[in-house]
Amino acid sequence: KPIVVSGIRSTGQLHLGNYFGAMRNYVRMQEEYECYFFVADWHALTTHPDTKELENSVLGVLAENIAAGLDPEKVTLYCQSAVPEIAELYLLLNMLAYQGELEKTTTFKDKARNQPENVNAGLLTYPVLMAADILIHRALYVPVGKDQEQHLEMARNFAQRFNHRYGELFPGPQAFNFGAELVKVPSLDGAGKMSKSENQLATLYLADDDDLIRKKVMKAKTDSGPTEPNSEMPDYIRNIFGIMSLVSQESTVEKFRSDFNNASIRYGDMKKQLAEDMVAFISPIRARAQELRRDTDGLRRIMERGAEAARESAQRTIREARRLVGLEYLK
Ligand code: TYM
Repeated sequence: KPIVVSGIRSTGQLHLGNYFGAMRNYVRMQEEYECYFFVADWHALTTHPDTKELENSVLGVLAENIAAGLDPEKVTLYCQSAVPEIAELYLLLNMLAYQGELEKTTTFKDKARNQPENVNAGLLTYPVLMAADILIHRALYVPVGKDQEQHLEMARNFAQRFNHRYGELFPGPQAFNFGAELVKVPSLDGAGKMSKSENQLATLYLADDDDLIRKKVMKAKTDSGPTEPNSEMPDYIRNIFGIMSLVSQESTVEKFRSDFNNASIRYGDMKKQLAEDMVAFISPIRARAQELRRDTDGLRRIMERGAEAARESAQRTIREARRLVGLEYLK
């Protein structure tokens, strides 16, 4: 079976972007692939040095992934920090990553702008740690959203440089979405992608209650509607159609699309429909996650078992990496 790796940072509640960019594909891949899915708690430290909420957040990410359909019997679920071999590979890969390319990374530039008081080296080498996460299991496929594309390209470069300098060890990992374009779920305010930290009212979390979901959807940015048939669609309206096509029936989306083209669309009606479809989509996941979250010991056991399996795989790679680099005299 081809090997798959992906991770989610434990920096807060998961949202619709995480679901459609990543988690949905985790679930779809769990039967046919050898899957390693983890909570990226080390990565979280690059932006969230305060660890008071970390454990809660880690367990929340795990519960929501299982609620979304991941089966701990079929995939390996673990926490990044429980697999120290990742840190060793990260160290080795750091010698193959250049300051210039790291400084040019889009996510680094964004984050450095957001937290000028804490532009730490972990932030700069974030893509190297991410490459180590992936290469430690010698993965071929990495199900992620569009925002991770550049990181995957860097992981391929680091893998190639390692192979070239020390000998063939790593396949070139690919960002994966079943042959389709990588997904980018937009935020509800018409500005950028949905994200954990930006405008909270424009982000739909998997933990939101029904009334909050309705409130957020009804506040999504619209205007008074097209005045003539076949008008050009503004981006923020296109985004709402995009989100609707994720959770509503195709016939529903088509109806509103033709209303738009006839210039007869009523955005209030469209948002009401979207709100109800969104509630129907999110509420069962929320309920299952809440129930799973109550069994903290059970969640911990899943992670412990996962870490054991992940370390076995990681140790095989690290042994090879040490041998190829020429460090085996350390034993
Ligand atoms: P993170 O924690 O920001 O997000 C987890 C996953 O959700 C996807 N995602 C989105 N997809 C579509 N539309 C959106 N609006 C949206 N927002 C988030 C992300 O693309 C991601 O797949 N660097 C990673 C975590 C990571 C990782 C890895 C991933 C660390 N090591 C190794 C894969 C392999 C991140 O910050 O994801």
